[in-house]
Amino acid sequence: MRSTDTTSWQPTSWQARKAQQQPSYADGAELERAVADLARLPPIVVSWEVENLRLRLAAAQRGEAFLLQGGDCAESFADCESDRIAKQLKVLLQMSLVLLQAMKRPVVRVGRFAGQYAKPRSADTETRAGVSLPAYRGDLVNRPEFTAAARRPDPQLLLRGYERAALTLNFVRALVDGGFADLHHPEYWDLGFMRHAQLREAYQRIVDSIGDALDFFESLTGQKAGDANRVEFFASHEGLHLLYEQAQTRFIARQDRWYNLSTHMPWIGMRTAQVDGAHVEYFRGIANPIGVKVGAAMSDEWLQELVAVLNPHNQPGRLTLIHRFGVKEIEQHLPRVIEAVRRTGATVLWCCDPMHGNTETTSGGVKTRRFENILKELDLSFRIHRELGSHLGGAHIELTGEDVTECTGGARGLTDADLQRAYRSQVDPRLNYEQALELAMLIAERSKQRT
Ligand code: PEP
Ligand code: CO
Repeated sequence: MRSTDTTSWQPTSWQARKAQQQPSYADGAELERAVADLARLPPIVVSWEVENLRLRLAAAQRGEAFLLQGGDCAESFADCESDRIAKQLKVLLQMSLVLLQAMKRPVVRVGRFAGQYAKPRSADTETRAGVSLPAYRGDLVNRPEFTAAARRPDPQLLLRGYERAALTLNFVRALVDGGFADLHHPEYWDLGFMRHAQLREAYQRIVDSIGDALDFFESLTGQKAGDANRVEFFASHEGLHLLYEQAQTRFIARQDRWYNLSTHMPWIGMRTAQVDGAHVEYFRGIANPIGVKVGAAMSDEWLQELVAVLNPHNQPGRLTLIHRFGVKEIEQHLPRVIEAVRRTGATVLWCCDPMHGNTETTSGGVKTRRFENILKELDLSFRIHRELGSHLGGAHIELTGEDVTECTGGARGLTDADLQRAYRSQVDPRLNYEQALELAMLIAERSKQRT
């Protein structure tokens, strides 16, 4: 097992390891200049917010809160617009309200936003009609159009991505501070294009009951419901592009530790979780709460080593394991990984990503996911954790606040034929607004039945 001491660690020490999924830039000097420019810019988040999130995740780990992590598979620069950001925030807030009311525990809201611009790909190149070009790796690296100019990894995009991440989080903060998410005004949380009558009614009942509970609390105590009327929002993204992450890694003297201040909670994707790889080396040295995706290919020993390297002091809230097995494989793998982690004696926060193991391609060649599979994987996760004396403390969902047609199923019964109508994702298919809220209501309903 690797040494776990961080004294020899530096934000650049990952460079001595093999780094998977990094773009290959043609001009090294240009890249160096862009990274140096990035390192001079002020951070997007600050260390006390990061510590605050860690404490909330520690509560979720103890079963006293629930993590809702969600957003686009990949943000795009073109979508950095007020309307889209507000809708994304709205769907996450509404889902959290539904979960809060049913689970009677705080919901920790973490967006997949403000930096979710880099994507792992299964191949370095893409070939169409005999022409091979670099694969599209997210807007932080290159552009999706299939031309040589668009696919050239461009170091300037690191700066453009960072700026958009800052614009996004700035707008999120302003919306939240401005009362957008004030629980005293749930009537502002209107349902937009939710057309399904039964879902509308169920949601309205939840909103009314929360409003009544707040009124009751305030008349009883004669005071405003303090923290309860303000919601918090945190940012997360896959920490994939290591030069981008490195550039915003700062030593905070007051805390005596290094932080990645480009986001609150970076996570390690499934393709970059090699114990002796560059990503794990980078992540072990930052103090942020971090996530690691766990898939069927991860052996018990591998996972145990990750737990030891990434959280050697078993710090509460530090490590979230985001399992993504798919509905077909979860019963085979989840019990074994729960037991493997238990044998380390360490505690982690368990979170289910019911999206990435359930991706399929239609006969027409379109990437999609079925609502019923997503729901079923979540259901099985709750059940398996419970049966093994563990507990599921979070859900990680790819979703959008818009009326897209990328996943099938849900209350309005979207079919494969509907996918062509409003399919916008360049990468993975997302639940649309209505499907996302329905998912939250179904999880909520089941959690009420269990209590
Ligand atoms: C993702 O979260 O978009 C992703 C690529 O997931 P994974 O690393 O689990 O495949
Ligand atoms: Co994805």
